[in-house]
Amino acid sequence: MPRITIETEESSYLCDQDDTLLRAALREGLGFPYECNVGSCGMCRYQLLSGTVEQLWLDAPAINPRDKKKQRMLGCQTRPTSDCRIKIRTNSVDKEIDPPKKFAAKLVKITHLTHDMAEFKFFSYTPPKFLPGQYALLNLPGVEGVRALSMSNMVNSDGYWCFIVKRVKGGKGTFWFFDRAAIGDQIIIDGPYGHAWLRINSERPIICLAGGAGIGAMLSIASGYYKKTLAQSSLRLYYGCRTSRDIIHKDYVVDTIRSSAEIIYSNIVSEPESSWTGNKGMLDKFLFESFEGKEVYKSFDYYMAGPPQMIESLRRGLIIERQVPIENIRYDQFY
Ligand SMILES: Cc1cc2nc3c(=O)[nH]c(=O)nc-3n(C[C@H](O)[C@H](O)[C@H](O)COP(=O)(O)OP(=O)(O)OC[C@H]3O[C@@H](n4cnc5c(N)ncnc54)[C@H](O)[C@@H]3O)c2cc1C
Ligand code: FES
Repeated sequence: MPRITIETEESSYLCDQDDTLLRAALREGLGFPYECNVGSCGMCRYQLLSGTVEQLWLDAPAINPRDKKKQRMLGCQTRPTSDCRIKIRTNSVDKEIDPPKKFAAKLVKITHLTHDMAEFKFFSYTPPKFLPGQYALLNLPGVEGVRALSMSNMVNSDGYWCFIVKRVKGGKGTFWFFDRAAIGDQIIIDGPYGHAWLRINSERPIICLAGGAGIGAMLSIASGYYKKTLAQSSLRLYYGCRTSRDIIHKDYVVDTIRSSAEIIYSNIVSEPESSWTGNKGMLDKFLFESFEGKEVYKSFDYYMAGPPQMIESLRRGLIIERQVPIENIRYDQFY
């Protein structure tokens, strides 16, 4: 098995030829920096000093011609074909609490939620270990590359992994989910990954902000929050979508979170039909019109998941315009 040596840090780890440099490091408990795991954010970029690697996705969005000239690669998109020496600065933030593992899992249930969203429930014999808000990488039959999906349920001893998936037009992974998947199909789930998990030690109330498919991650966070506060605290879940057909029914939300306390579940529709009488516009605008003055915004923790441009405008509005400390905000951008 190839050995990867991290120059300047005097550490090394073994990386199976089937594994990526990033994921093998995380399995070993090393803090290899990363965010998306799917070639889009660039956080896992390292420099190859010696040795050879196979590049899984040459056109990955986070790699540019300058990187290619300087032998800079993506940890999430390279597999070793020999021993390697690499340059990267590891850190403690990216160390996984529960190191990721691979699980064989079987599709056991599909629940349709809207015209283009459904919950897919898988079973693995080894029960999963993950924190609310984390995601996994799914290896789907006949689909090149892995797909990142956030768990919408909570850690459990029954072996269940639930994912809320939104169909993407022309998307290969979501085509498998909506047009190929059948009960009993086997896939490989690799996880958990991600840093946008619920911090249970914070005393601040939370606001969950979901755009489209981001609702799954926020349901997991909300479930964890209710469990932590023993349903004593109310919670705000703001869900931004395009039309009223995209709204997930409140009964499903309440059932999933198992909430007995108050939940403020607001749907904000950006392209409403003329009959829609609820909240209209963009999610960020809705949030920034919700409270008077900057100070109120500083009194919450924020969890958010959804399209990168939505996350960017929410973060900018909170951090730059309202001086919310960066550590009060956790997010996953769905590339
Ligand atoms: C951290 C994270 C969490 C996410 N959680 C959810 C969720 O809970 N629900 C949800 O519906 N969506 C989620 N997404 C988005 C999801 O991963 C897919 O991008 C989306 O479902 C569309 O996939 P697709 O295969 O249909 O589209 P496609 O256009 O076929 O694929 C898009 C995705 O696959 C990757 N990809 C494409 N081709 C290759 C290749 N050749 N090699 C390697 N990778 C490739 C891209 O980086 C991109 O992530 C999440 C994304 C991230 C990054
Ligand atoms: S973690 Fe590799 S590009 Fe995002």
